[in-house]
Amino acid sequence: MEAPRTDEDIRDVNTRYHDVAADSYDAKWGIDFGEPGRAQVLMKLRKVLDKETLAAGFERSLEIGAGTGYFSLNLLQAGTIRNATCTDISPGMLATLRANAERLGLDVETVATGAEELPFADASFDLVLGHAILHHIPDLAKAFAEFHRVLKPGGMVVFAGEPSRYGDRLARVPKRGAAAVAPLWRRAIGARAAGSVPYANRNGNGNGHDPHAEDHALERFVDIHAFAPGDLAAAARGAGFADVTVRGEELVANWFGWTNRVLEATAVPEDVPWGWRQYAYRGYLALQQLDQRLLEGRLPAAMFYNLLIAARKPA
Ligand SMILES: C[S@@+](CC[C@H](N)C(=O)[O-])C[C@H]1O[C@@H](n2cnc3c(N)ncnc32)[C@H](O)[C@@H]1O
Repeated sequence: MEAPRTDEDIRDVNTRYHDVAADSYDAKWGIDFGEPGRAQVLMKLRKVLDKETLAAGFERSLEIGAGTGYFSLNLLQAGTIRNATCTDISPGMLATLRANAERLGLDVETVATGAEELPFADASFDLVLGHAILHHIPDLAKAFAEFHRVLKPGGMVVFAGEPSRYGDRLARVPKRGAAAVAPLWRRAIGARAAGSVPYANRNGNGNGHDPHAEDHALERFVDIHAFAPGDLAAAARGAGFADVTVRGEELVANWFGWTNRVLEATAVPEDVPWGWRQYAYRGYLALQQLDQRLLEGRLPAAMFYNLLIAARKPA
C-alpha cells in the first residue's frame, strides 16, 4: 500500500486502522481498568501535575484520541475527573470505550471527531487530556489552538505517552537485537514462528484468509511524528499556553518492553507461555520503578522513550 500523502489521507488511515484494531486493542496493549491500570495512569499524571492540582481534580474533562478509555475511565474511577467527555476519530474505538464504561458502571459522553476541529463551545472544560495521541495528528498547531479554545481560563492541558524522537532511535537497538535472537528464543520456549500456521487453523474461519490483513498493513502509516521535547513545548506556547512542563519517562523499562514485544510478535500468540508473559509484565513494572527513581530526574527528557507535557491556559 502507498503511504498516505495528504492530511486527510492520514486521518482516514488512522480511522480505518483504529476501527479494525478496536476489538482487540485492550488485549494487545494490556490495557487495564482495575487497580494496576489506575496506578499507571496516576503515576504519569503525578510526573507533570503538582500534588494540590491532582488532589483537587477536575470537574469537566475532554479526552482527545481517547481510544478504548484507558485514561478517562481510570481517572473517573480514581475521582480525579468527575465528568468525562471522550473523543476519538475512530467510531470503532469509541464503541469499545462505551462497552468498557458500561461494564465498569461509568457514565461518559463520547463524540467522534478529529482533534483539529472540536465540536465544543469555547471555555467548556477544565482539563484537556490525552495519551499516545499527539503523534497521530497531522496539524498539531491547529489542534493545540483548539485545546486552548475549549479550555476555561486557568484550565490545564496534559498529554502523556508521546514518542520521543531520540528515545525512539535508542529503542531501535533492543528491537534489532530481539529480532536477531528471536529464532533461538522461540526454540527455547517451544513456540512456532508467526505466519507458519495458516490463519484458518488458528481462528477456524475455514478459508485461511485473515479478514483484517489489509487494515493491519496500515499500522506503519498511523504514527506520523516523534517529538523533541522542545517541539511539544513550542506547540503549547504557540497556542497561548503558559507554565509549560515537558518530561521524559521510561528508558530501561522501555528497552526491556520492546525486546519482549518484538520477540513475542515473531511467535504464534497461543504458543507464548503464561510464565513468560508474567516475567515480561513484572519485569517491566520493576524497571519502570528503577527509571522513575534513578534516571528520570537525572537524564535529559529527550533520552526517554515517552514524553509528557502539561501546560495551563492563562487565567
Ligand atoms: C495509540 S491510540 C491511543 C488510544 C488511547 N488514548 C490509549 O492510550 O489507549 C491513538 C488514538 O488516537 C485516535 N486518533 C488518531 N488520529 C486522530 C485524530 N487526528 N484526531 C483524534 N483522534 C485520533 C485513534 O483512533 C486512536 O484511538
